[in-house]
Amino acid sequence: MTDISNDPAGRLAPVNLFEYEALAKDRLSPLAWDYFSSGAMDEVTLLDNREAFERIAIRYHVLAGVAERNLSAQLLGRRHRLPLLIAPTAFGRLAHPDGECAVARAAASEGVTQVLSTLSTTSLEDVAKAAPDGDRWFQLYVFKDRGLTADLVRRAEAAGYQAIVMTVDAPMLGRRERDARNRFALPEGLTAANLTAQLSRIGSDGTDSGLFQFFADVLDPGLTWDDVEWLASLTTLPVLVKGVVRGDDAERAIERGCAGVIVSNHGGRQLDTAISSIDALPEVAEAVDGRGAVLVDGGVRRGTDIVKALALGASAVLIGRPVLWGLAADGEAGVARVLRILRDEFDLAMALCGASSVEELWPDLLV
Ligand code: FNR
Ligand code: LAC
Repeated sequence: MTDISNDPAGRLAPVNLFEYEALAKDRLSPLAWDYFSSGAMDEVTLLDNREAFERIAIRYHVLAGVAERNLSAQLLGRRHRLPLLIAPTAFGRLAHPDGECAVARAAASEGVTQVLSTLSTTSLEDVAKAAPDGDRWFQLYVFKDRGLTADLVRRAEAAGYQAIVMTVDAPMLGRRERDARNRFALPEGLTAANLTAQLSRIGSDGTDSGLFQFFADVLDPGLTWDDVEWLASLTTLPVLVKGVVRGDDAERAIERGCAGVIVSNHGGRQLDTAISSIDALPEVAEAVDGRGAVLVDGGVRRGTDIVKALALGASAVLIGRPVLWGLAADGEAGVARVLRILRDEFDLAMALCGASSVEELWPDLLV
């Protein structure tokens, strides 16, 4: 069960993910904290991602014999130890000097798949080397330069990444007003390490968020479903599209050769007032109807959130910010503990719901 240990100063270690958030806020520079925590514009969707989970109530079963619980889940033809993955988040070394490598090691030790961002501050090859036994997928941003894009896919294949996650909710970067005010730029010494030297320095011209400018300059707002098909034809790896919130779009993804979809609004960072991810999930799960994997992210902070997502048709969930909080607070150990806290909460929630395996989670569990 949860290991509630003390730090050397005798303080109780964080007991939940929100306590890691508070620690991270203390440790991070204002620029990094604002970048990690902010959502688009009024942050309505950011807040609603949480509140929508809290609005769902659980009609649990009793006396279901839950002494033995199996938390594993089937995903893309493989059994995962938990129905939990690490969402791609850019610029890991803005949180901690060990950045994405620390996340890779913690993920591998906890048996959780890491989805690495195109905009990682460590190259995808070095992340793979940091934890050779870990499972990992690569998140792809499609650049105007399709040669560069195809090269990233080939490098991910060569380095042993097991799936490509194409992010489709960011034809332009959402407006994060705190980043605009901070004129967000990568601090000296940090780069987007997967990219060419010319592209990898994300600086600001002093009038706006440098990341907003970067997206406008090099990413392709002209993407269509044909590009999804192009990507699927380019690789033997399964392709998932990330950022879908509608059944009809999920249907198209499957028709165009995707192995699955990730229901996501980018953690409330793209279109403000977009539907919360958990509210979007049932329609997407119904449209996919078992023909591909359905994952969801946005606001997952508690074990009961995982139960709710699985009951509504997801095969697994991803967490973004909590991993950055663990990383900022305590490097690899902080990430590992965030994952363990969530696993233990999920295990407890399963027991208290009367479920012994994820296959027993159905919509009738919820109101
Ligand atoms: C992200 N997200 C993201 N998504 C993506 O496809 N590529 C990326 O590079 C990033 N970068 C990124 C940076 C930061 C700081 C955050 C917070 C998020 C979105 C991410 O994958 C995921 O969809 C959300 O973070 C999930 O929501 P929670 O768990 O953060 O609430
Ligand atoms: C973000 C981008 C990089 O959300 O995905 O900041």
